[in-house]
Amino acid sequence: MLSDEELDKYRKAGEIASKLRRDMLETIKPGTKLLDIAEKIESAIIKAGAKPAFPVNISINESAAHYTPQIGDEKTVGRGDLVKIDIGAHIDGYLSDMAFTYCSEKSPIVKASREALDAGISVIKPGVRISEISAAIYESIESSGFGPVVNLTGHGIERWLFHGRFSIPNVPNENDRVLSEGDVIALEPFVCESAARVDESDPVEIYQFAQRKPVRSMEARKIMELAEKDYGGFPFAKRWLAKHISPFRIKMALMELERVGALKSYPLLKDMGGRKIAQSEDTIIVADEPIVTTRL
Ligand code: CO
Repeated sequence: MLSDEELDKYRKAGEIASKLRRDMLETIKPGTKLLDIAEKIESAIIKAGAKPAFPVNISINESAAHYTPQIGDEKTVGRGDLVKIDIGAHIDGYLSDMAFTYCSEKSPIVKASREALDAGISVIKPGVRISEISAAIYESIESSGFGPVVNLTGHGIERWLFHGRFSIPNVPNENDRVLSEGDVIALEPFVCESAARVDESDPVEIYQFAQRKPVRSMEARKIMELAEKDYGGFPFAKRWLAKHISPFRIKMALMELERVGALKSYPLLKDMGGRKIAQSEDTIIVADEPIVTTRL
């Protein structure tokens, strides 16, 4: 069970993401720069009294997740693109995780991802099994004539911990784990024209602290410090480091840190067949009347 103070922080972190979804759906247009979207969202999170729990992911079309704009990124939103924007905010480690897909045209696949998310939320109550949530999401995707991305899942959330102790697949499974009142979860169906899987690819723009390791370069030591303290152990963007270190040195230092195991990296995840993917995600607190914090 969550205390009132904990509930309050989860709600506030969710409200921030919820407002950003509304703002972004109103302002993004074909031609909008991805870097502007990411910077606007990240500074709005800070202004609202929270911190980004990971760099804003802006993954387009066949890219499903883990793209965040690069230093000096000139890419823009294209007409008809499926632009998946995944936002995380935290207050004292209490998280919200929310994603939506922007498309300049009416897109049945975006609608299918939203409906699948709603179908998952509709079965949430204390005592629900993970397999029941997965089945609800999967049936909704199938009935819309599309298919799930089979190797991306929703997940439990805990304080300071994004991908908590369990995952919530978007495909049928036998997981009998039961959710209780006060559990916090993120549901995130990814939908493709038919069942798909994503693989790791270039580029790598997102990293996360793993463990302290002795390193030689001053820049690597600085990044390790930022990763552990300033970013609170949460994932961070290569571009965030440009405030502190010159871009050339960032690359070298990250290579060193990854080699010694001080950092974990998150390569872009995409469908190698080039098929377009839509995503919808909300954070939910399990209760008889579930609280969808990212829709407050
Ligand atoms: Co998530």
